[in-house]
This record gives sequence, C-alpha cells and structure tokens, in this order.
Amino acid sequence: MSNVLGIDIGGSGIKGAPVDLEAGDFAADRLRIETPSKSTPKNVVKVCAEIIENFADQVGDGPVGITLPAPVVHGKVPFIANLDQEWKGLEAEKYFQDKLGRPVTIVNDADAAGVAETHFGAAKGVNGLVILTTLGTGIGSALILNGLLVPNSELGHLEIDGKDAEKEAASSVKDRLGLSYKEWAPRLQRYYSHVEMLFSPDLFVVGGGVSRDHAKFMPLLSLKTPMVPAQLRNKAGIIGAAWLAQDRVVHPDPDPVILESFAGGPGAEDTVKGKHSKKK
Ligand code: BGC
Repeated sequence: MSNVLGIDIGGSGIKGAPVDLEAGDFAADRLRIETPSKSTPKNVVKVCAEIIENFADQVGDGPVGITLPAPVVHGKVPFIANLDQEWKGLEAEKYFQDKLGRPVTIVNDADAAGVAETHFGAAKGVNGLVILTTLGTGIGSALILNGLLVPNSELGHLEIDGKDAEKEAASSVKDRLGLSYKEWAPRLQRYYSHVEMLFSPDLFVVGGGVSRDHAKFMPLLSLKTPMVPAQLRNKAGIIGAAWLAQDRVVHPDPDPVILESFAGGPGAEDTVKGKHSKKK
C-alpha cells in the first residue's frame, strides 16, 4: 500500500505528512505552515495545496485526509469555534475536493486522534467505551466503542455549571490565567467526573500538547475510570486523518439513511427516502 497524506488543520499551524499505514507512523518528516491569520476556507485550502505539492512524489494522486477543529457531518461543518466563521455551513469536503482535485476526507481533529490511538496507540486492543479528549485551545473528544468511532461527539461543549466546558477547562485557559497544574486540576476534575457520570467509559485517553506533562496533573484527579496519556502525541491527528481517508476508499460515506419503515413516523414529512428534503 502506498503512503496516504494526512493534514491537520489547527488554529496556529497546518501540518501534513505522508503516513505509512502499516507502521502507523510518518513516512517522511512533517511539513508545518502557519495557519493564515484570516483562516477562511479559501486561505486554508491554499496551504493544503502547498503541502500536497510538497509530498507529491510520495502520495501521487491518492486520497488525502484532513482534520478540522470542528464537527464534520457527512462532509459539512455545522459550526466552528476556533477558526474563521466562513467555515460555518460549508460543504467542506466537496469544496476541498474541487479545489485539490483528488479524493478528500475531512474529519474532526479529535476523532482523527481517537482513531489513530485506537489503531496504533494508547487505546489499541481496548474493548468497551474509550473516550479520548484533547486538551488544547478547546477540548476535543472522540467516542470509540469496541474500536469503532462514533463521530462528532463534541464533549468540549458540554454545558457544566452553566458554562461551556472548554472555556473553563481547556489547557488554553490554564495558560491564559497562568494557572499551575494544581490550580488547573479542580477544573479538570469537574469536567472529567461529569463526562464519567454521563458515559461510564472504560478508559479515558488524554491527548493534546499538555498530555506531555500528564504526570503533573493526572495523579491529582480522582476518577473511577482509568486514565492514560495519548501515545502518538502531535502525530495523532495526521495519522488518524490518513487512516480515515484510506478507510473511505473501502467504505464510502453512506447517505444518512432513514429506514423505509420509519417513513411514516414522526418527522417523516421532512424526509424523502434517506435524503433530507428542504423544509417548505
Ligand atoms: C471544537 C471541536 C474540536 C475541539 C478541539 C472545539 O472547540 O468544537 O470540534 O475537536 O475544539 O480542537
């Protein structure tokens, strides 16, 4: 199998590398380009084209997997917290595919990291429910049940004590307020015990840059669920995106099918054989 390109779009940098999916690792050093200060789809796709061009001899005209710090529902971005608002409502997969002239799979950044950790890292071989969270500018989440991703969980936006969770507990909040690990830990405790109560997971995997310092905050948390640091660190998004792009070749994203037997049920007037029809 040839290498598959993965690109991770973040608030400060856009990083790409060809991924060897047998090894679960980069096949060449990654390339990082600053995220344009106006992070519109138009500006970001140009950077992606540059990254593809850079690795053209390794990835040919194969598929590319791209992460976004936003939910991506059947290729479309319903909302976005930490990039330009022009992304909101965009059919991102189609837009990128047209501009880049190759098959593109766009996925949520935490989902990509979760998939990478499931196949090659901290959650490999773990049965039951794994919840991976990434602590960074925001909080990303991936729900993985028996090795299968349940996409777009968005647990960083749980409302806890009337507040958006990521605005209280992300590592950017720690940095902005100059909190020590000891001062930050109660915020993490509040967050993780709430997620634990809602989902009863079998394992928490904690990613994001700050997971490098896991020994400074994980022991301060008191949870029933085992918690381990992510293993693939900042490679996880790229590796997971590449994995999902390759998987898409074999398993195309199906239309959101609504069962025929449900066609007479509540909300049926809004559906036509699996396609969402426009509201009148
Ligand atoms: C976004 C998520 C993303 C997370 C980490 C949140 O603000 O809504 O989609 O996974 O940040 O980037």
